[in-house]
Amino acid sequence: MRIDVITIFPDYLTPLELSLLGRARERGLLEVRVHDLRDWTHDRHRTVDDTPYGGGAGMVMRPEPWGKALDDVLGSGPDGASPHLILPGPGGTPFTQARARELAHEDWLVFACGRYEGIDERVYEEYAERLPVSVLSLGDYVLNGGEVAVLAMTEAIGRLVPGVVGNAESLVEESHEDGLLEYPVYTKPALWRGREVPPVLLSGDHGKVAGWRQEKRLERTAARRPDLIEAYRRSQAEPPAGDA
Ligand code: ADE
Repeated sequence: MRIDVITIFPDYLTPLELSLLGRARERGLLEVRVHDLRDWTHDRHRTVDDTPYGGGAGMVMRPEPWGKALDDVLGSGPDGASPHLILPGPGGTPFTQARARELAHEDWLVFACGRYEGIDERVYEEYAERLPVSVLSLGDYVLNGGEVAVLAMTEAIGRLVPGVVGNAESLVEESHEDGLLEYPVYTKPALWRGREVPPVLLSGDHGKVAGWRQEKRLERTAARRPDLIEAYRRSQAEPPAGDA
């Protein structure tokens, strides 16, 4: 998978060189390119923003540098690859595990990191006419810009690209994979500060362990995410799609 990120803070993206994604890059599974938006400005101050039409607080990112940057980056793709443009922003649709799974099938993602009050809306309009464009939010809170969202999204998506995570089984039993949160986990020692590991986990009875884990997932999801438990119960009650 190829990933391009356009930002005014390229240094923000250096964590993409570390750990799992860093290794995936070395192994050629991911190709990440980070671009400085200011390279597409031509004035002495390398200006990327201006005051909003209609008034109001803050600054808006001007469309010209974005147009030039996106035209260049979108024109530089690997042969035959079709890009999907992602604009992170608090006004986007929620980025979820399901979205991460979908996006992991794409061969090329281009992230455009907005700052200040956002990017001039015409940039979205212009590119949405030419290619798939998704405005995605990390959650219902406001960050200073899209960079941290790109770090989170590329990690969530990148680890689902085949081969990036060594043990693919570890991806199956995770929170959000089937609508429930993950069960609690324990390791050695069996007794720590007077606290025991639940005895069922030491029983060697795989059926009992699986039953206990499912029970804990339901308990935990009901306590922490009542919004998810309702959707999960409905999905369990419904016959699978395609059944009469
Ligand atoms: N940029 C600023 N806030 C954001 C959020 N919540 N999600 C994605 N990008 C953002």
